[in-house]
Amino acid sequence: MIEVKNLSKFYGHVRAVDNISFTVAEGDVVGFLGPNGAGKTTTIRILTCYQPATSGSATVAGHDVFKESLKVRTEVGYLPENVPLYPEMRTREYLRFRGKLRGLDRPEREAAIARVTERCWLGDVIDRPIGQLSKGYRQRIGLADALLHNPRVLILDEPTVGLDPAQIRETRALIRELANEHTVMLSSHNLAEVEATCRKLVIINRGAIVAAGTPDELRQRITGGSKLIAELRGPNEQVAAGIRELNGVSDVHTEAREGWTRVTITSAKDLRESIYTMSTQKGWPLRELRREVATLEDFFVKIVAAAREETVTPKV
Ligand SMILES: Nc1ncnc2c1ncn2[C@@H]1O[C@H](COP(=O)(O)OP(=O)(O)O)[C@@H](O)[C@H]1O
Ligand SMILES: [Mg+2]
Repeated sequence: MIEVKNLSKFYGHVRAVDNISFTVAEGDVVGFLGPNGAGKTTTIRILTCYQPATSGSATVAGHDVFKESLKVRTEVGYLPENVPLYPEMRTREYLRFRGKLRGLDRPEREAAIARVTERCWLGDVIDRPIGQLSKGYRQRIGLADALLHNPRVLILDEPTVGLDPAQIRETRALIRELANEHTVMLSSHNLAEVEATCRKLVIINRGAIVAAGTPDELRQRITGGSKLIAELRGPNEQVAAGIRELNGVSDVHTEAREGWTRVTITSAKDLRESIYTMSTQKGWPLRELRREVATLEDFFVKIVAAAREETVTPKV
Protein backbone atom coordinates (compact mmCIF):
# COMPACT_ATOMS: atom_id res chain seq x y z
CA MET A 1 0.00 0.00 0.00
CA ILE A 2 2.95 2.27 0.70
CA GLU A 3 6.29 1.64 -0.97
CA VAL A 4 9.29 3.81 -0.30
CA LYS A 5 12.53 3.21 -2.15
CA ASN A 6 15.85 4.93 -1.51
CA LEU A 7 14.14 8.13 -0.51
CA SER A 8 16.32 11.08 0.51
CA LYS A 9 15.57 14.67 1.41
CA PHE A 10 18.07 17.45 1.94
CA TYR A 11 17.22 20.87 3.31
CA GLY A 12 20.23 22.72 2.00
CA HIS A 13 23.06 20.76 3.59
CA VAL A 14 20.87 19.15 6.26
CA ARG A 15 20.22 15.52 5.41
CA ALA A 16 16.78 15.04 6.96
CA VAL A 17 16.01 11.71 5.26
CA ASP A 18 18.86 9.50 4.12
CA ASN A 19 18.14 6.80 1.56
CA ILE A 20 15.28 5.08 3.34
CA SER A 21 13.25 2.15 2.03
CA PHE A 22 10.26 0.41 3.59
CA THR A 23 6.85 -0.95 2.70
CA VAL A 24 3.48 -0.93 4.37
CA ALA A 25 1.14 -3.73 3.27
CA GLU A 26 -2.60 -3.28 2.84
CA GLY A 27 -4.35 -3.57 6.20
CA ASP A 28 -1.16 -3.02 8.21
CA VAL A 29 -0.91 -0.67 11.16
CA VAL A 30 2.64 0.60 11.12
CA GLY A 31 4.33 2.80 13.69
CA PHE A 32 7.01 5.12 12.38
CA LEU A 33 9.10 5.57 15.49
CA GLY A 34 12.02 7.90 16.10
CA PRO A 35 13.30 10.68 18.35
CA ASN A 36 12.62 14.33 17.55
CA GLY A 37 14.43 15.42 14.42
CA ALA A 38 14.72 11.85 13.10
CA GLY A 39 12.97 12.69 9.83
CA LYS A 40 9.45 11.40 10.47
CA THR A 41 7.53 14.52 9.49
CA THR A 42 9.73 15.03 6.45
CA THR A 43 8.98 11.49 5.22
CA ILE A 44 5.28 11.87 5.91
CA ARG A 45 5.09 15.18 4.09
CA ILE A 46 6.69 13.54 1.07
CA LEU A 47 4.26 10.60 1.18
CA THR A 48 1.30 12.94 1.41
CA CYS A 49 2.58 15.08 -1.47
CA TYR A 50 3.16 18.17 0.66
CA GLN A 51 6.79 18.43 -0.33
CA PRO A 52 9.12 16.88 -2.89
CA ALA A 53 11.99 14.53 -2.11
CA THR A 54 15.56 15.13 -3.23
CA SER A 55 15.86 11.63 -4.68
CA GLY A 56 14.27 8.20 -4.57
CA SER A 57 10.73 7.08 -5.18
CA ALA A 58 7.52 6.43 -3.29
CA THR A 59 4.09 5.12 -4.15
CA VAL A 60 0.91 5.16 -2.12
CA ALA A 61 -1.94 2.87 -3.16
CA GLY A 62 -0.03 2.25 -6.36
CA HIS A 63 0.30 5.92 -7.31
CA ASP A 64 3.57 7.77 -7.61
CA VAL A 65 3.67 10.57 -5.03
CA PHE A 66 5.66 12.81 -7.37
CA LYS A 67 3.75 12.29 -10.60
CA GLU A 68 0.21 11.46 -9.46
CA SER A 69 -0.30 13.65 -6.45
CA LEU A 70 -4.03 14.17 -7.04
CA LYS A 71 -4.62 10.42 -7.11
CA VAL A 72 -2.51 9.94 -3.99
CA ARG A 73 -4.50 12.62 -2.20
CA THR A 74 -7.79 10.86 -2.92
CA GLU A 75 -6.42 7.65 -1.38
CA VAL A 76 -4.80 9.21 1.69
CA GLY A 77 -6.17 10.81 4.81
CA TYR A 78 -3.45 12.90 6.43
CA LEU A 79 -3.42 14.20 9.98
CA PRO A 80 -0.58 16.72 10.20
CA GLU A 81 1.51 17.26 13.31
CA ASN A 82 -0.28 20.52 14.05
CA VAL A 83 -3.83 20.45 12.77
CA PRO A 84 -4.64 23.83 11.24
CA LEU A 85 -8.22 24.58 12.30
CA TYR A 86 -10.34 27.73 12.21
CA PRO A 87 -11.25 28.51 15.83
CA GLU A 88 -14.22 30.67 14.91
CA MET A 89 -15.87 27.94 12.83
CA ARG A 90 -18.21 25.37 14.33
CA THR A 91 -17.24 21.74 13.90
CA ARG A 92 -19.95 21.03 11.33
CA GLU A 93 -19.17 24.19 9.37
CA TYR A 94 -15.51 23.28 9.28
CA LEU A 95 -16.20 19.75 8.04
CA ARG A 96 -18.60 21.15 5.38
CA PHE A 97 -15.91 23.55 4.26
CA ARG A 98 -13.36 20.74 4.06
CA GLY A 99 -15.83 18.51 2.23
CA LYS A 100 -16.36 21.24 -0.37
CA LEU A 101 -12.61 21.51 -0.87
CA ARG A 102 -12.57 17.76 -1.39
CA GLY A 103 -15.14 18.23 -4.15
CA LEU A 104 -17.94 16.31 -2.41
CA ASP A 105 -21.41 17.43 -3.51
CA ARG A 106 -23.99 18.35 -0.89
CA PRO A 107 -25.59 14.92 -0.28
CA GLU A 108 -22.18 13.20 -0.30
CA ARG A 109 -20.86 15.82 2.07
CA GLU A 110 -23.70 15.52 4.55
CA ALA A 111 -23.46 11.71 4.50
CA ALA A 112 -19.68 11.89 4.99
CA ILE A 113 -20.04 14.34 7.88
CA ALA A 114 -22.59 12.05 9.57
CA ARG A 115 -20.23 9.12 9.13
CA VAL A 116 -17.08 10.81 10.49
CA THR A 117 -18.99 12.48 13.32
CA GLU A 118 -20.03 9.07 14.56
CA ARG A 119 -16.67 7.50 13.78
CA CYS A 120 -14.69 10.13 15.68
CA TRP A 121 -17.17 10.61 18.56
CA LEU A 122 -17.87 14.24 17.69
CA GLY A 123 -21.65 14.21 18.19
CA ASP A 124 -21.47 16.33 21.36
CA VAL A 125 -19.44 19.11 19.79
CA ILE A 126 -20.70 19.17 16.22
CA ASP A 127 -22.38 22.58 16.66
CA ARG A 128 -19.78 24.15 18.94
CA PRO A 129 -17.12 26.65 17.89
CA ILE A 130 -13.80 24.85 17.47
CA GLY A 131 -11.97 27.53 19.50
CA GLN A 132 -13.88 26.40 22.64
CA LEU A 133 -12.90 22.75 22.33
CA SER A 134 -10.14 20.83 24.07
CA LYS A 135 -7.03 19.67 22.23
CA GLY A 136 -8.41 16.12 22.32
CA TYR A 137 -11.54 17.17 20.44
CA ARG A 138 -9.55 19.25 18.00
CA GLN A 139 -7.34 16.27 17.27
CA ARG A 140 -10.47 14.21 16.59
CA ILE A 141 -11.77 16.92 14.26
CA GLY A 142 -8.48 16.63 12.39
CA LEU A 143 -9.01 12.90 12.13
CA ALA A 144 -12.62 13.38 11.01
CA ASP A 145 -11.35 15.74 8.32
CA ALA A 146 -8.78 13.15 7.21
CA LEU A 147 -11.58 10.56 6.93
CA LEU A 148 -14.14 12.66 5.02
CA HIS A 149 -13.32 11.17 1.63
CA ASN A 150 -13.08 7.66 3.12
CA PRO A 151 -9.44 7.11 2.11
CA ARG A 152 -7.89 3.66 2.05
CA VAL A 153 -4.71 4.88 3.75
CA LEU A 154 -4.44 7.00 6.88
CA ILE A 155 -1.16 8.76 7.69
CA LEU A 156 -1.06 10.34 11.11
CA ASP A 157 1.83 12.49 12.30
CA GLU A 158 2.25 12.22 16.09
CA PRO A 159 -1.49 11.89 16.69
CA THR A 160 -1.38 12.11 20.49
CA VAL A 161 1.22 14.80 21.06
CA GLY A 162 0.02 17.39 23.56
CA LEU A 163 -2.96 15.37 24.75
CA ASP A 164 -3.63 14.50 28.39
CA PRO A 165 -3.59 10.84 29.46
CA ALA A 166 -7.36 10.36 29.14
CA GLN A 167 -7.37 11.92 25.67
CA ILE A 168 -4.38 9.80 24.69
CA ARG A 169 -6.26 6.67 25.66
CA GLU A 170 -9.32 7.75 23.65
CA THR A 171 -7.27 8.63 20.61
CA ARG A 172 -5.41 5.31 20.73
CA ALA A 173 -8.70 3.43 20.97
CA LEU A 174 -10.01 5.36 18.00
CA ILE A 175 -6.87 4.61 15.97
CA ARG A 176 -7.20 0.91 16.76
CA GLU A 177 -10.79 1.00 15.48
CA LEU A 178 -9.79 2.88 12.35
CA ALA A 179 -7.11 0.27 11.75
CA ASN A 180 -9.86 -2.27 11.11
CA GLU A 181 -10.95 -0.39 8.01
CA HIS A 182 -7.87 1.46 6.80
CA THR A 183 -4.18 0.88 6.27
CA VAL A 184 -2.57 3.09 8.93
CA MET A 185 0.87 4.60 9.29
CA LEU A 186 1.44 6.77 12.34
CA SER A 187 4.54 8.50 13.55
CA SER A 188 5.56 8.84 17.15
CA HIS A 189 8.59 9.53 19.32
CA ASN A 190 7.06 7.34 22.00
CA LEU A 191 7.61 3.60 22.01
CA ALA A 192 4.67 2.87 24.32
CA GLU A 193 2.44 4.64 21.85
CA VAL A 194 3.38 2.55 18.85
CA GLU A 195 3.38 -0.65 20.89
CA ALA A 196 -0.17 0.15 22.01
CA THR A 197 -1.52 0.76 18.53
CA CYS A 198 0.72 -0.81 15.89
CA ARG A 199 1.47 -4.30 14.67
CA LYS A 200 4.68 -3.30 12.94
CA LEU A 201 7.39 -0.78 13.64
CA VAL A 202 9.80 1.11 11.45
CA ILE A 203 12.44 2.81 13.60
CA ILE A 204 14.14 5.86 12.15
CA ASN A 205 17.06 7.77 13.55
CA ARG A 206 18.99 10.67 12.00
CA GLY A 207 17.18 10.14 8.73
CA ALA A 208 18.04 6.43 8.44
CA ILE A 209 16.00 3.34 9.20
CA VAL A 210 17.71 1.41 11.96
CA ALA A 211 15.24 -1.47 12.35
CA ALA A 212 11.86 -2.66 11.08
CA GLY A 213 9.54 -5.54 11.90
CA THR A 214 6.97 -6.67 14.45
CA PRO A 215 7.77 -5.74 18.05
CA ASP A 216 8.66 -9.39 18.75
CA GLU A 217 10.96 -9.65 15.74
CA LEU A 218 12.69 -6.43 16.71
CA ARG A 219 13.19 -7.50 20.29
CA GLN A 220 14.84 -10.66 19.03
CA ARG A 221 16.99 -8.98 16.42
CA ILE A 222 18.00 -5.88 18.29
CA THR A 223 18.81 -7.41 21.62
CA GLY A 224 20.23 -10.65 20.21
CA GLY A 225 18.02 -12.71 22.49
CA SER A 226 17.75 -12.79 26.24
CA LYS A 227 20.23 -12.90 29.08
CA LEU A 228 20.20 -15.67 31.62
CA ILE A 229 21.80 -15.36 35.00
CA ALA A 230 22.57 -18.47 37.03
CA GLU A 231 24.57 -19.24 40.15
CA LEU A 232 25.78 -22.81 40.58
CA ARG A 233 28.08 -24.29 43.20
CA GLY A 234 30.66 -25.99 41.04
CA PRO A 235 34.18 -25.44 39.75
CA ASN A 236 34.27 -22.31 37.69
CA GLU A 237 35.89 -23.76 34.58
CA GLN A 238 33.80 -26.92 34.51
CA VAL A 239 30.59 -24.93 34.91
CA ALA A 240 31.59 -22.60 32.09
CA ALA A 241 32.54 -25.52 29.83
CA GLY A 242 29.27 -27.35 30.58
CA ILE A 243 27.21 -24.30 29.70
CA ARG A 244 29.10 -23.57 26.49
CA GLU A 245 28.11 -27.03 25.29
CA LEU A 246 24.38 -26.26 25.60
CA ASN A 247 22.53 -25.64 22.39
CA GLY A 248 21.85 -22.03 21.45
CA VAL A 249 24.43 -20.35 23.69
CA SER A 250 26.08 -17.39 22.01
CA ASP A 251 28.11 -15.97 24.90
CA VAL A 252 29.08 -17.03 28.43
CA HIS A 253 30.66 -14.95 31.15
CA THR A 254 31.56 -16.47 34.51
CA GLU A 255 32.61 -15.04 37.81
CA ALA A 256 33.78 -16.98 40.89
CA ARG A 257 32.05 -16.02 44.15
CA GLU A 258 33.12 -17.83 47.31
CA GLY A 259 32.68 -21.33 45.96
CA TRP A 260 29.80 -20.34 43.70
CA THR A 261 30.04 -19.65 40.01
CA ARG A 262 27.92 -16.85 38.68
CA VAL A 263 27.23 -17.24 34.95
CA THR A 264 25.77 -14.70 32.56
CA ILE A 265 24.61 -16.32 29.33
CA THR A 266 23.44 -14.66 26.14
CA SER A 267 21.19 -16.91 24.18
CA ALA A 268 18.42 -16.81 21.63
CA LYS A 269 16.71 -19.64 23.56
CA ASP A 270 15.32 -19.94 27.06
CA LEU A 271 17.89 -22.29 28.65
CA ARG A 272 16.48 -22.42 32.16
CA GLU A 273 15.37 -26.03 31.94
CA SER A 274 18.72 -27.20 30.51
CA ILE A 275 20.58 -25.43 33.30
CA TYR A 276 18.38 -26.96 35.95
CA THR A 277 18.99 -30.41 34.42
CA MET A 278 22.74 -29.77 34.36
CA SER A 279 22.67 -28.74 38.01
CA THR A 280 20.95 -31.97 39.08
CA GLN A 281 23.02 -34.23 36.80
CA LYS A 282 26.37 -32.79 37.87
CA GLY A 283 25.37 -32.32 41.48
CA TRP A 284 26.03 -28.57 41.37
CA PRO A 285 23.49 -26.85 43.65
CA LEU A 286 21.62 -23.97 42.02
CA ARG A 287 20.77 -20.85 44.03
CA GLU A 288 19.74 -18.41 41.30
CA LEU A 289 18.24 -18.82 37.84
CA ARG A 290 16.79 -15.74 36.24
CA ARG A 291 15.99 -14.69 32.69
CA GLU A 292 16.29 -11.04 31.67
CA VAL A 293 14.50 -10.25 28.47
CA ALA A 294 16.07 -7.13 27.00
CA THR A 295 13.41 -4.68 26.02
CA LEU A 296 12.82 -2.65 22.94
CA GLU A 297 12.66 0.26 25.30
CA ASP A 298 16.33 -0.18 26.28
CA PHE A 299 17.23 -0.09 22.61
CA PHE A 300 15.09 2.92 21.87
CA VAL A 301 16.32 4.82 24.92
CA LYS A 302 19.88 4.31 23.66
CA ILE A 303 18.98 5.74 20.26
CA VAL A 304 17.28 8.73 21.84
CA ALA A 305 20.19 9.36 24.21
CA ALA A 306 22.66 9.19 21.32
CA ALA A 307 20.55 11.58 19.25
CA ARG A 308 20.35 13.99 22.18
CA GLU A 309 24.06 13.92 22.77
CA GLU A 310 24.68 14.78 19.16
CA THR A 311 22.45 17.81 19.28
CA VAL A 312 24.13 19.23 22.39
CA THR A 313 27.73 18.34 21.56
CA PRO A 314 29.03 20.58 18.79
CA LYS A 315 31.02 18.70 16.19
CA VAL A 316 34.63 19.78 15.64
N1 LIG B 1 11.86 23.15 6.52
C1 LIG B 1 13.03 22.74 7.02
N2 LIG B 1 14.16 23.37 6.74
C2 LIG B 1 15.36 22.97 7.23
N3 LIG B 1 15.51 21.88 8.02
C3 LIG B 1 14.41 21.20 8.33
C4 LIG B 1 13.11 21.58 7.88
N4 LIG B 1 12.20 20.70 8.34
C5 LIG B 1 12.91 19.81 9.08
N5 LIG B 1 14.23 20.10 9.08
C6 LIG B 1 15.30 19.33 9.74
O1 LIG B 1 15.23 18.00 9.24
C7 LIG B 1 15.42 17.06 10.27
C8 LIG B 1 14.22 16.12 10.36
O2 LIG B 1 13.09 16.84 10.81
P1 LIG B 1 11.64 16.22 10.92
O3 LIG B 1 11.33 15.49 9.69
O4 LIG B 1 10.71 17.31 11.33
O5 LIG B 1 11.85 15.19 12.13
P2 LIG B 1 10.77 14.52 13.10
O6 LIG B 1 9.41 14.71 12.56
O7 LIG B 1 11.21 13.09 13.18
O8 LIG B 1 10.95 15.21 14.44
C9 LIG B 1 15.70 17.86 11.52
O9 LIG B 1 17.08 17.96 11.67
C10 LIG B 1 15.07 19.19 11.23
O10 LIG B 1 15.71 20.21 11.95
MG1 LIG C 1 7.74 15.51 13.40
